[in-house]
Amino acid sequence: MKIQVITLFPEMFTGVLGNSMLWKAANRGLAEYSFLNLRDFGLGPRNQVDDTPYGGGDGMLLMVEPLVRAIEAAKAVDPTAQVLLPTPRGKVYRQSDAKRLAAANQGLIIICPRYEGYDERITTWVDEQFCIGSYVLTGGELPAMIIIDSVVRLIPGVLGGAESAEIESFQADDTSIEFPQYTRPETFQTMSVPSVLLSGNHAEIAKWRAQS
Ligand code: ADE
Repeated sequence: MKIQVITLFPEMFTGVLGNSMLWKAANRGLAEYSFLNLRDFGLGPRNQVDDTPYGGGDGMLLMVEPLVRAIEAAKAVDPTAQVLLPTPRGKVYRQSDAKRLAAANQGLIIICPRYEGYDERITTWVDEQFCIGSYVLTGGELPAMIIIDSVVRLIPGVLGGAESAEIESFQADDTSIEFPQYTRPETFQTMSVPSVLLSGNHAEIAKWRAQS
């Protein structure tokens, strides 16, 4: 899956995409990450990307034209890619969205807003707007990383165990949670592993997990 990120801060992604499963996904050719630095699509000699809001107000907004130029450059590489915009005004991002995006097997173009926001006209070029929680972040980079992580881990072949993406939190619907798990030692300080997990009785273990 080709994932293109439009950002003023591509270096923020280095650690997250360069380690663990997201790195392995790229290494195995299951995901491909690339970055378009919005500054490269800025206007004039100083590559301007932001301006003050009409009607007044604090801060600066990302201008529509640099964003459209960047989206068009990304679309030239991957014409059928879906354009995502993280924004506190979007619909709540859920596991069902991650599953849908992973299953669609289409490329993604993720825009990372900054400053006080963006010119609303950019939404004409956007397929989906997502809010990743009821709080406000300084930009779209962290939401973009969350979306990438949640989608890429669901691409077949990315996670080790065939079942590990299936039998876990939020799979059946958007609310169920994973059962508690334990590893060695059997007893730590005064806390012991539930005895049913040591019983070897798979039916009982499944029943216990379903109830936990
Ligand atoms: N940008 C800033 N805060 C955000 C949020 N909660 N979700 C998505 N994008 C955001």
